[in-house]
Amino acid sequence: MSWSRALVFSALIAVSCSAEDLSFPPGFKFGAATAAYQIEGAWNVSDKGENIWDRFVHEDPTRIRNQENGDVACDSYNQVERDIEIAAELGLDYYRFSLSWSRILPTGFPNKISEDGTSYYNKLIDGLLAKGIQPFITLYHWDLPQSLQDLGGWTNPLIADWFSDYARVVFTLFGDRVKMWLTLNEPIVICDLSYNSARLAPGVYSPHVGSYICNKNVLLAHAKAWRIYDEEFKPKYHGKVSLANQLIWFEGKTEADAELAELTIQNMAGRYSHPIYSKEGGWPPGIEKILEENSLKRGFPRSMFPSFTQEEKEFIRGTYDFYAMNHYTSRYIRPAKEGETFRIWPLGDAEDLNAKIEVHPDWPTTASMWFFVNPEGIRKQLVWLKENYGDLEFMITENGLATFDGLDDTNRVEYYREYLKQVLVAIKEYGVNVTHYTAWTLIDNFEWVDGYHSKFGLYEIDFSDPKRTRTPRLSAHWYKKVIKAHSLDVTATKDEL
Ligand SMILES: *[C@@H]1O[C@H](CO)[C@@H](O)[C@H](O)[C@H]1NC(C)=O
Ligand SMILES: *[C@@H]1O[C@H](CO)[C@@H](O)[C@H](O)[C@H]1NC(C)=O
Repeated sequence: MSWSRALVFSALIAVSCSAEDLSFPPGFKFGAATAAYQIEGAWNVSDKGENIWDRFVHEDPTRIRNQENGDVACDSYNQVERDIEIAAELGLDYYRFSLSWSRILPTGFPNKISEDGTSYYNKLIDGLLAKGIQPFITLYHWDLPQSLQDLGGWTNPLIADWFSDYARVVFTLFGDRVKMWLTLNEPIVICDLSYNSARLAPGVYSPHVGSYICNKNVLLAHAKAWRIYDEEFKPKYHGKVSLANQLIWFEGKTEADAELAELTIQNMAGRYSHPIYSKEGGWPPGIEKILEENSLKRGFPRSMFPSFTQEEKEFIRGTYDFYAMNHYTSRYIRPAKEGETFRIWPLGDAEDLNAKIEVHPDWPTTASMWFFVNPEGIRKQLVWLKENYGDLEFMITENGLATFDGLDDTNRVEYYREYLKQVLVAIKEYGVNVTHYTAWTLIDNFEWVDGYHSKFGLYEIDFSDPKRTRTPRLSAHWYKKVIKAHSLDVTATKDEL
């Protein structure tokens, strides 16, 4: 909506960033990201196993806008050369993509490794490396093998073994060439958003029970995979492994709500970060008690939020090589009023804290209903992370804008520029060691329940074309110049389209 107002606002904040300050530190790396289910298609080729997104979209097509699905998506399974070419056209330092677990392990277990699945990813990895682009692999971006879902999926504590078995196979297959790894993408979506709403695969509704059990299990699964890499692979391959958290920046609606805002951050960022990144490990202070009280209020005989044993706490603590953050948007938080109801979809209120979220009326809307633009949020979130978890290496593993169709995506260019300016302020004025920035996303793709309605791509895809032709948007031309100049002091004009 009022782009101009928000942009003036952020321009004022960036004033202290002088012209020469628009350059990135030496060694800063730029990438772009995708995820397997969102781009690959080829859902039933060769011996690939069914995953929970295949099942979710086929079982009830009305779950997805316009009854769309990822059966073909961007056809990246067959267009892999073109995807590599695009990454090279942009001059990316690295390309972040995810692996389809059931494409590599058709049964979900390592009793059978798919030759075709392995060769697809080898083609992608080797093709990128031939162009000087580092592959940055996410092991799990939401597409659990259905066979494991049938056994309880992320609510079965054995998932830590299943996931780490899969991780070992992948590290063995690709670890000689791949040095950057993420175990899980956005565990808060895998657990909280999914189980509290049933609006994402696996479509299981288990609010405040399944979501809490999953929360603990994803952390144990991550830690186990990290330790396998650390012990068995790092000595010879020297790579880095972490997990990617989705962080929404929260501020109190009024000054009186500052404490509530801090608790909200702990309840969202903290439940998936504190056990790993804090010095003491375990759940964030205060949260366990609140969730126990809520369980009792909801009529359960004890807390449905599982505690850690001392051994588990130690097992999870310190299982990182950097902090990976996906970030898009911000919210205000305020205490709920008497009798107010809570929303869980598409971006929930903090029901467990008896609090409601709001957006600032000046924040521009986007093509995604959960998504409002607030560039300062990314800087404040980075500073918060450094203050809470220390002077770590930070990587932004996703950031980008949802728009509708069209090659002229001036608003996406503005979004990237304003958010990246704030990243520079975090680096230069607050000393946050941000080393990587990843644009979401390389190409338009299947945006989960939103189908092909909202677009995040630097490249537009013609989804009516069987070849899924990819065409650079204005933002692609702009991003390419940023990477080349290693600076935001560049412009792209519509003549380049
Ligand atoms: C794969 O799925 C498509 C639908 O997306 C269907 O048309 C095709 O027959 C299936 N192929 C096989 C081998 O089952
Ligand atoms: C940032 O982190 C990287 C990776 O650990 C390290 O090599 C670099 O020296 C750090 N930079 C600063 C300014 O601390």
